[in-house]
Amino acid sequence: MCGVKHAMRAILQSQKALTPLQSLLLRRWRPQWVCQSRRQKPAWIREVSTESDSKDEKPYYVTTPIFYVNAGESQRCKHQTFIVLIIQAPHVGHMYTMILADVMKRWAVLHGKRAILCTGTDEHGMKIQQAAQKADSDPQSFCDKGAEVFKTLAAQVGMSNDHFVRTTEPAHRETVEYVWHLLEERGLIYESKHEGWYSVSDETFYPESQVHLIVDPPTGKKIMVSIETGKEVQWTSERNYHFRLSAFRDRLIKWYKENPEWITPASRMKEVVASVQAGLEDLSVSRPVDRLTWGIRVPTDSSQTIYVWLDALLNYITKAGYPWQPGNEHIGGWPADIQIIGKDIVRFHCVYWPAFLLALDLPLPRKIMTHAHWTLGKQKMSKSTGNVVNPFYALDRFRLDAMRYFLVHNGGIANDADYDNRYIVERYLTDLKNGLGNLVARILRAKNWNVRKAVERYQSVKQLEHDCVQLQDGCRLSRPPQEDGEYADVNRVLENFKNVLAGLPQDVNKHMEEMEPNKALSRITLHIYAANGFMQTQAPWDIAKRLQLEALGDVKKRRGGALSEKNLDTLQRRMDCILYLMVESLRIMGILLQPFMPDKATQLLDSMGVSPDQRTFKHTAIGVDKSYGVPNVPQGQKVPALFMPLESDF
Ligand code: MSP
Repeated sequence: MCGVKHAMRAILQSQKALTPLQSLLLRRWRPQWVCQSRRQKPAWIREVSTESDSKDEKPYYVTTPIFYVNAGESQRCKHQTFIVLIIQAPHVGHMYTMILADVMKRWAVLHGKRAILCTGTDEHGMKIQQAAQKADSDPQSFCDKGAEVFKTLAAQVGMSNDHFVRTTEPAHRETVEYVWHLLEERGLIYESKHEGWYSVSDETFYPESQVHLIVDPPTGKKIMVSIETGKEVQWTSERNYHFRLSAFRDRLIKWYKENPEWITPASRMKEVVASVQAGLEDLSVSRPVDRLTWGIRVPTDSSQTIYVWLDALLNYITKAGYPWQPGNEHIGGWPADIQIIGKDIVRFHCVYWPAFLLALDLPLPRKIMTHAHWTLGKQKMSKSTGNVVNPFYALDRFRLDAMRYFLVHNGGIANDADYDNRYIVERYLTDLKNGLGNLVARILRAKNWNVRKAVERYQSVKQLEHDCVQLQDGCRLSRPPQEDGEYADVNRVLENFKNVLAGLPQDVNKHMEEMEPNKALSRITLHIYAANGFMQTQAPWDIAKRLQLEALGDVKKRRGGALSEKNLDTLQRRMDCILYLMVESLRIMGILLQPFMPDKATQLLDSMGVSPDQRTFKHTAIGVDKSYGVPNVPQGQKVPALFMPLESDF
């Protein structure tokens, strides 16, 4: 923004009348000036900080797309003499995007980063204008209601968003107007006649080559639709403003080339590069007011309304504080570290958005994480087809963490995933209740061993490594040790299990860095199975029983007679070693699960007495936490079950 500083100086020195951009710059860049709507400190400044915190450091910035507010649309239905308001809830697809973004933010926090998450609602445009009309509502109150529905959903999915942006907010309008002035001043906007096929549902123009004629099944009428989305398009011919998108083709291609992993998964990166290489047309960025009233007016021409996608995309920098005061460019988080979007809005985010940013001389987001769609009966879940699952009902039935687990675990990143209640039940029973829940109950609720004692024994990792090798045995472990007091190194089960556990955090981290939270979660699930299997083969309850008999001096029931002191000690060590590997598994999985299932992971870590300041990624190495092991439930009480039975299993 150095150029802006020079421009400021030039403006101040010149005696001429100011252009609108100049007066905006002056208002914006007065040293003490802080926009009223931005006075509030960003939430992350108020949050507890990590050691490396410094106000100047750029926070980690994650965004979701902003949701069309008509997904929470209310329709008036005349029912006899009453008017009933039907609220069409947002659908599971929207909840999925929210949860993915929340998981990515929480993962950054797990790494000790200060992170910001921005979500919100997209409230302008033809689609909203028409939806409000249909609902017999004025657009602003229509948006107010819709935004509330999404705010409620964000809260109910446990989203740790720091911002909830609404494009009808004054701060956002100011940003959009400012950007328009800048683009105009840079000669990147021009007026001309525009003809093309417009889809209100997609809020975009399609070229002739991307539409075709079909017979609409419900009405039998012939209609033109977009080949890509199947949404109806209408021919429009009007004068409006254009953005010189074509001028950015080479710079975009250069950017893609230099950042080949900018978009994940790689298949979508390829598609974007190919589409830009095929050519770019200039983009229509306004509509005449007589067609579209509900939006931000072009600040220099009140007969035109700014195109909703230009308006909407800028939300990401609005909340990062743009236009920023000199020296504060990074304080709000821009450039974003990850922008999360569904595969249907890739062109807007991976072609138009970087072009707008290049035009403004702003840095581009570091990563665009795209995901696939949820389908229902193999059809895309979409409110316009009515083929949707209400997330509020799903949350009510399965509870938050089970839904978070299911959506991330089964949800598609590269490929679409089909939604069915039966799949949720299956995952819940197999992975959570009978998998993790059972493991926790077996280890933490058992009375015949002492978790804390095992943790105390292995205060040194060296000792653990030694014992894992020395105490090997592939057989049932109630068997007494050999003559020399050690178990034979039969199949290195202990050592192998310890090594698998040691590799778990890095495996999960790698998947997260590759933007594949589904694989990351599956990797943890795999360890739940591995730990249950390990416990089954090592049967610590048998060792515990033997130790108990030894302690009672019950000679008759002891196989092979009483153990020597040395052998007794070996058996106790073996018991503690197995137990320690199990509780370390629970502790490490509990830490890693926090971004995915915050409540259940907290419950698990609490029940093991893991201190809240020992729950970051740094603490996922074996043996780093030496202080846990006393459950924080009152003595004599059982650790509560982690996952309750479902009301119905179908
Ligand atoms: N308002 C635009 C985004 C503007 S961002 C500057 C929009 N809104 S939306 O409400 O239609 O979609 C919001 C998000 O939900 C998108 O990422 C979209 O991909 C996602 N989903 C919508 N339907 C979905 C599924 N069926 N499955 C998964 N995600 C889906 O687009």
